[in-house]
Amino acid sequence: MVTRPARLTPPVQCVPLHDPESRLEGVIVIHSTALGPGAGGCRFWSYPDMDRAQADALRLAEGMSYKNALAGLPLGGAKAVLRRPEGDFDRSRLFQAFGRAVAELRGAYVTAEDVGTTVTDMQDIARATRHVAGLPARTGRAGGDPSPWTAQGVFESMHQAAEIVLGRDLGELTVAVQGVGNVGADLCRRLAEAGARLIVADVDPQRCESLRVQYGATVLPVNAIVEAEADVFAPCALGGVLNDHSAGRIAARIVCGAANNQLAQPEMAETLRRRGITYVPDYGVNAGGIISVSAEYLGEGTDEVARRVAAIAPRVGALLERAAHEKRSPAAVADDLAEEVIASAQRPATAAA
Ligand code: NAI
Repeated sequence: MVTRPARLTPPVQCVPLHDPESRLEGVIVIHSTALGPGAGGCRFWSYPDMDRAQADALRLAEGMSYKNALAGLPLGGAKAVLRRPEGDFDRSRLFQAFGRAVAELRGAYVTAEDVGTTVTDMQDIARATRHVAGLPARTGRAGGDPSPWTAQGVFESMHQAAEIVLGRDLGELTVAVQGVGNVGADLCRRLAEAGARLIVADVDPQRCESLRVQYGATVLPVNAIVEAEADVFAPCALGGVLNDHSAGRIAARIVCGAANNQLAQPEMAETLRRRGITYVPDYGVNAGGIISVSAEYLGEGTDEVARRVAAIAPRVGALLERAAHEKRSPAAVADDLAEEVIASAQRPATAAA
């Protein structure tokens, strides 16, 4: 009998970040080190206050524990959230200060890109610590921007879900993509090449315009994308999009996208199931990025990344089949599987200096 940790268990470690000289302010949350060092990206975003930033970090770090466990990676879960300062600031200096904070954790936390951070930021972090991934790749080695790997996992999972849930090929369907940044835009390219029709929305109108020109995507206002007449809704912006307000407005039969923490509350998964909507768990489909990060950190090659990313869609397929058979939401089944992996791990964290 496996004893399962409850959702939102207290984090192992919560490290406040405060360096007035560089204007660094934020938090690193290490949620679990049962499977290895806590790994998860660094988010750089405008938060109105530290409470909001910390709440986001807690949820994101927990999500990383589940994602890494389900993907079979030798990593625990963690996340850094940095508040983007108002006005002028020296970005390079800020990320170097963050790098020093990561170094002080001596390998208990491994960072990488997330929303708002770039390869250049990772290079600044790397001036202070080696516990960073998402750096420019060397030939044949894993590395660089992980977004294309994330988009591949989401695309292939969506394909699988369309076949299982609708019995149709993705190329015959319409997909509404919310947020067309690094992952969303790459997902749109793959979908267009497969023949799918696209509906897109982004707070940055330029991003939508280029997809309209390239792929004939229909552009909707940001507040209309949830109820777009589509077969699949793909959240690829920020979290919390599946909430009491949106659940009754979603027109699509499948929700499958890259955004982390799509469910505002865990119960939303069951609400959607009862409405006949299949929510494909975010952390099950968007593991491509952390798979790339993990391989880079462990010194593995791109062939290993490709092998692990290719395993995402079949795993998602099995999850959907099991959820349908058990009449439960796929999210509940995924949580069970991830929690079993975490609970059965014997190994304590190995903190490399
Ligand atoms: P990004 O920052 O490149 O793109 C996000 C896009 O969403 C931007 O274009 C932004 O303007 C847009 N956006 C923000 N708020 C919006 C709103 N309310 N409505 C519509 N659009 C909005 O970030 P990226 O890397 O593409 O990540 C997207 C999501 O996927 C995030 O939730 C991230 O945590 C998640 N993710 C990303 C991974 C990666 O490899 N980049 C890996 C796993 C998850």
